[in-house]
Amino acid sequence: MSTQIPAGVTVITHPLAQVKLTQLRDRQTGSDDFRARVSELAVLMVFEATRDLAVAPRTIETPLAEHEGTALLRPLVVAPILRAGLGMLEGMLRLLPDVSVAHIGLVRNEITRRPESYYFKAPANVADAEVLVVDPMLATGWSATSAISQLKECGARSIRFLCLVSCREGLEQLQSAHPDVKIFTAAIDPELNENAYIVPGLGDAGDRYFGTVA
Ligand code: URA
Repeated sequence: MSTQIPAGVTVITHPLAQVKLTQLRDRQTGSDDFRARVSELAVLMVFEATRDLAVAPRTIETPLAEHEGTALLRPLVVAPILRAGLGMLEGMLRLLPDVSVAHIGLVRNEITRRPESYYFKAPANVADAEVLVVDPMLATGWSATSAISQLKECGARSIRFLCLVSCREGLEQLQSAHPDVKIFTAAIDPELNENAYIVPGLGDAGDRYFGTVA
């Protein structure tokens, strides 16, 4: 397998991120720890994914003097793809308290094997915002593609996609549909199996997060 990272994709190699990802991959990690690690890893990823956000000067007064500080130029919107994306949202809300949230519900049509929308609600400011779409697993790439298409139909112009684990097939699908979207991931795994699970991956992220494993 080529280890080359495609242009437009950032792999978060920070040691703390990789340690947390390893804990997530471990089948012995129960729901409690799984939730905590998803949340922590999402926060670490946000640092990298927001590194180049545009800022504007903001003048404030410290107890001693006036100071020219910094404010974000544009609002932030986090857009979790339901249901597993909610796990990443939880940590991000603590880091980004002023953020608005878009919810994107997709379900797989078992005949076409493509995602279909069952719920979509985006904040009114999505067209002016920096949008962070989050889903732990970028497997076939079709859900991310569909979610981002829906956001663009609402006017979103600046979109980044964050996932914990990706694979070559998902990256190729998403980049071919939305070449303008920067992708941030903690891993590019070697395979997608016949059931569209990433291997080695971490299993079903939603089931493990919500404790719905059989
Ligand atoms: N969704 C998951 O939760 N895990 C995968 O490996 C692929 C899609």
